[in-house]
Amino acid sequence: MKDTDFKFFEELLKRESGLIITPEKTYLLESRLLPLAQKQGIQGGLEGLVQKMRGGNASLTRAVVEAMTTNETSFFRDNTPFQKLKEDLFPAFIKSRGAQKSLRIWSAACSSGQEPYSIAMMLKEAPQFAGWRIEIVATDLSQDILAQAKAGVYSQFEVQRGLPIQMLVKYFTKQGENWEVKPDLKSMISFKEANLLTDLRHLGQFDIVFCRNVLIYFDVPTKGKVLSTIKDITKQDGVLFLGGAETVIGISDVFKPLTNVRGVYVRADSTFMAEKSPVAPAPPLSAVQK
Ligand SMILES: C[S@@+](CC[C@H](N)C(=O)[O-])C[C@H]1O[C@@H](n2cnc3c(N)ncnc32)[C@H](O)[C@@H]1O
Repeated sequence: MKDTDFKFFEELLKRESGLIITPEKTYLLESRLLPLAQKQGIQGGLEGLVQKMRGGNASLTRAVVEAMTTNETSFFRDNTPFQKLKEDLFPAFIKSRGAQKSLRIWSAACSSGQEPYSIAMMLKEAPQFAGWRIEIVATDLSQDILAQAKAGVYSQFEVQRGLPIQMLVKYFTKQGENWEVKPDLKSMISFKEANLLTDLRHLGQFDIVFCRNVLIYFDVPTKGKVLSTIKDITKQDGVLFLGGAETVIGISDVFKPLTNVRGVYVRADSTFMAEKSPVAPAPPLSAVQK
């Protein structure tokens, strides 16, 4: 690939989605964008694609960005966050939100929907939430993956990854070779398109945010910007879950770790669960960056 073409994709992907692509990942550009160019009937491979995109082509730009997203996910991915949600956070929210009986949860970068459906099943399995007004908002940048999430249809392989058999039988119906989420579970979730690089205050304020396994694709300044965007729509006594390989430490001061529970964060100005288990202070950013 010509250097100028690599630069073109590098800049476009960073600007449109935050994705950082390094020269060692040239093979990814080729394996994902050559089929796209072919499908679009574009001659000349990636060079032809770049030529067609120069000067602006909104639909092609979207197709390139979507083709380059990594949508890897699974039901109850990594297990621990969902265990923490059930064992520590649900009791805390039942206590703190007991009067208004309402909860808003955001699955940011929800991919094909396994994450929000896992959260919905956990809520269904907690009888204390009966009669509560619960809203799960699930967002992603990719229209294609959101359409899949909304359809809620999964292959045998997908349901075998992390979904306990009792939950499969209870919340899904068999459709030929596949399994479809039952309507009452689907109705708990609203799926919306949202780019984490944009202002998202129109989504409203959330008690619980899952933003897992997406910051890993961004550079440090972009991670910091996205964390500030998330903080703007996380309630002061809300919580944030990040992926196992992600952290706020050394990146942003707007969130701090909740005790020593790996992967759970609260706003820097939060006292959520403070009386139960003291919040471990995050080291000052200046100290980490040295
Ligand atoms: C690896 S998946 C993570 C799915 C799920 N959160 C999990 O942990 O299993 C990453 C998702 O982030 C989405 N994504 C990438 N960049 C994004 C952005 N700038 N705004 C919103 N979503 C983005 C991708 O489309 C993809 O579906």
